Amino acid sequence: MRFTVAIDGPAAAGKGTIARAVAAHFGFAHLDTGLLYRAVGIKGGDPVAAARALTLNDLQRDDLRSLAAGEAASRVAALPEVRRALVAFQREFARREGGAVLDGRDIGTVICPAAEVKLFVTASSEIRARRRWLEAGGAAAPESLEEVLEQVRSRDARDMGRADAPLRPATDAIILDTSELSIEAAVRRAIERVAARLSRR
Ligand code: DC
Repeated sequence: MRFTVAIDGPAAAGKGTIARAVAAHFGFAHLDTGLLYRAVGIKGGDPVAAARALTLNDLQRDDLRSLAAGEAASRVAALPEVRRALVAFQREFARREGGAVLDGRDIGTVICPAAEVKLFVTASSEIRARRRWLEAGGAAAPESLEEVLEQVRSRDARDMGRADAPLRPATDAIILDTSELSIEAAVRRAIERVAARLSRR
């Protein structure tokens, strides 16, 4: 069976948690596509060459989740040639046998416009910044809440403002706003949507 769940949204909205939970619930494979851009960004050198040569091994680095890797990713992700070099890998993953969940920024709009289920997970920038800040240690974090909010806003502006594959919901995406919804409730809603679509096959 081939079945694709596309999950898009801004940083720290909860899409990774939802993607992992949906994949685990249905036994689908999961690809966090942000890791591809992070691996390219952190590799240094020519980003287009790095994107073309990317292997699964590059996704195993343990520094990919750092703030620096996120920043570097957001920069290289604005380069059309980098994005193009990563399309085939993502599409092959999406159509693998047994079902797949991909989370990112352009999965429902560009990579898998025919995905069986499209979700757009979002939350206000203040709430996302607070989550990031608490994850980093809250009052003990190296950065203040205001600094984290500033980073969230500038990353959003870059991801939404770029000319190639900007972050936006597909017209047929289901919007899950986790400002008002707990992550658990959002996971439940996502699972219900996928189950409903699977039952129509
Ligand atoms: O989801 P993340 O924080 O790991 O993503 C890091 C950066 O990569 C993000 O700022 C935008 C970019 N990205 C993208 O442009 N397209 C994707 N499908 C995934 C991530």
